[in-house]
Amino acid sequence: MTEALIRARGLSRTYPAPRRGFGRPERTTALDDVDLSVRAGSAVGIIGESGSGKSTLVRLLLGLDVPTAGTVEVDGRPVDARGSARSLHGLRRATGMVFQDPYASLDPRMNVGRIVGEPLWALGIEGDRRARVREVLEQVGLDADVTTRFPHEFSGGQRQRIALARAIVHRPRILVGDEPLSALDVTVRAQILRLLARLRTEQQLTLVLVSHDIGVVQNVCDEVVVMKDGRVVEQGPTEKVLLQPQAAYTRQLLASIPTLPG
Ligand SMILES: Nc1ncnc2c1ncn2[C@@H]1O[C@H](COP(=O)(O)OP(=O)(O)OP(=O)(O)O)[C@@H](O)[C@H]1O
Ligand SMILES: [Mg+2]
Repeated sequence: MTEALIRARGLSRTYPAPRRGFGRPERTTALDDVDLSVRAGSAVGIIGESGSGKSTLVRLLLGLDVPTAGTVEVDGRPVDARGSARSLHGLRRATGMVFQDPYASLDPRMNVGRIVGEPLWALGIEGDRRARVREVLEQVGLDADVTTRFPHEFSGGQRQRIALARAIVHRPRILVGDEPLSALDVTVRAQILRLLARLRTEQQLTLVLVSHDIGVVQNVCDEVVVMKDGRVVEQGPTEKVLLQPQAAYTRQLLASIPTLPG
């Protein structure tokens, strides 16, 4: 049996709920006892309605948030979001993340060259860093000369590509994307899909992709996880989950999406 590259066990996360009147403060359960295992080299899609806990789950997988209960292991090592920078170095080296909001995730005071190159400097990766930044900008379909410009000078789709360039610049083994393609038009999206496919074969990149776009999930992912109210309601091979969904919720979710697989 192949070892899981990412393994989550019993993951839960609650947040303080907005207070309604007096009494005990209540808590919202964003994630409720989730088990997940991601094989090395696989591509896993996470789907589910808004508020179902998808972003919460991927943040926990990368040690960007602390679970209320449960554990995460990446490559056999426990993820501890409260650990020192030094203890998190291996995790940061192994992973890249594209956040849901490309506006919030790019530092407005930094030019594109610094934003995209930052992981190389922060992780102490040797080599011609400037050349690597230019290379990766071209891979995501941007002009290599944009390095001196600032985030506010770019469209939403361009910012999403800058965020993607930054996420892959250090050649991570795992790329986690929270709606990484949603602001892209059809041609750019196709280009990025080809790039992801290439990185999967050339670098054995493992992908975890949150997406509302069933077409993208069908194109990229070999496994799908369906979430509702913080729980996993169904998971399995993409073809099976999308074409012969077992859970009533999955059928409902797929029926509510205009671009049905076919
Ligand atoms: N920082 C937070 N503080 C309080 N509640 C939160 C916080 N983050 C998430 N939640 C709540 O947790 C639940 C799950 O949120 P999450 O962002 O994981 O959903 P999602 O599946 O990513 O949704 P979307 O598709 O809209 O991005 C929601 O009810 C949300 O309101
Ligand atoms: Mg989200």
